Amino acid sequence: MPEGAVHIGSGKVRELYALGDDGLLLVASDRISTFDVILPTEIPDKGRVLTGLSAFWFSRTRELVPNHLVALRDDGRSLECRRLEMLPIECVVRGYLSGSGWKDYLRTGSVCGQALPPGLRESDRLPEPIFTPATKAQSGHDENIDAAAAARLVGPELYARVEQVALSLYAFAAAHARSRGILLADTKFEFGLDADGTLTLGDEVLTPDSSRFWEAAAYEPGGPQASYDKQFARDYCEGLGWDKTAPGPELPDDVVAGTRARYVEAFELLTGLSFGEYIADPRVVLR
Ligand SMILES: Nc1ncnc2c1ncn2[C@@H]1O[C@H](COP(=O)(O)OP(=O)(O)OP(=O)(O)O)[C@@H](O)[C@H]1O
Ligand SMILES: [Mg+2]
Repeated sequence: MPEGAVHIGSGKVRELYALGDDGLLLVASDRISTFDVILPTEIPDKGRVLTGLSAFWFSRTRELVPNHLVALRDDGRSLECRRLEMLPIECVVRGYLSGSGWKDYLRTGSVCGQALPPGLRESDRLPEPIFTPATKAQSGHDENIDAAAAARLVGPELYARVEQVALSLYAFAAAHARSRGILLADTKFEFGLDADGTLTLGDEVLTPDSSRFWEAAAYEPGGPQASYDKQFARDYCEGLGWDKTAPGPELPDDVVAGTRARYVEAFELLTGLSFGEYIADPRVVLR
C-alpha cells in the first residue's frame, strides 16, 4: 500500500487511493482484459506504459483543457491527481468506423443518432471525427446514447463544451499519432469537475486501453483491423474456443512477451522515447 494513501477502490485496471482531502492516487496494474474479462495472467510493465502515455498527453494538452495530473511517481505507474466529480458519461470520439460504431451504422445508418453517408465499409475513415457519448455502465458494456440523452445527463451547456474539447483533443492526438505511423481510430475520455466547477480531463488518456490504435502501414478498410496491442492475446484466447466469460484463460509466455512488446512499441512510437529511459526516470515524458 502506498505510504499516506487510503485504498478507496479498484477498477478493472487501476487501484484508487485517497491522498488527503482532495487528492487521488491512481496506480495502474499490469492486469489485461480481453473481451471485457480480466485474464489471470499479467503483462509486465503494461501499467507503466498506460501511466507514461497518459502523463505524456496530459503535459501536451494542457492548453486545450486543464487536467487532473499533479505528479508522476518514480515507480512509473502511479499518478497523483486532483480528485474530480466525474461526469456520468464516457466521451468517445471516433475518426473511423469500428466496434460498436460500425454495428450501430449497419443497423441504423448512423452512429449515436448522427447520420453518416451511405455505403461506408468497416474501418473506413469518417468524413469528420464525431463525438459519440456513452453511459458509464456499473458492470458490463457501456451503452451508446444520442446527444439529447447525454445532454440531459450533464446539462446542455456542459455537453456542448465537453463535445468541443473532446473533438479538439482527438484532432491534436490523431495528427501526432499519424506523424508516428499510427492511426487513432477512436478514443474515450473521462471528464470531471474540479472543486471550482472547472471542466477537467481525468482518468487515463490516449492509451492503448482507452483507444483503438492501428498501424497506418497495414490499414485496409473493408474489415476489422488488427488492434495494435491486444491482438496476440485475443487471437490466442479465440483459438482456444474460450466462450468469453470469466474466468479467462492463462496466457503462455510467448503471448505475454508479444503483447508486452506491442504495448512498449506503442509507447515508444508515440512518445519518441525509449521505454528504458522512462523506467530510469519517468519524468522524461513530461518534458
Ligand atoms: N481525477 C479523478 N477523480 C475521481 N475519479 C477518477 C479520476 N480519474 C479517474 N477516475 C475514476 O477512477 C477509475 C479508474 O480505474 P480503472 O480505469 O481501473 O476503472 P475502469 O475499469 O475503467 O472502471 P470500472 O472498473 O468501473 O469499469 C474510473 O472509475 C475513473 O472514472
Ligand atoms: Mg478505466
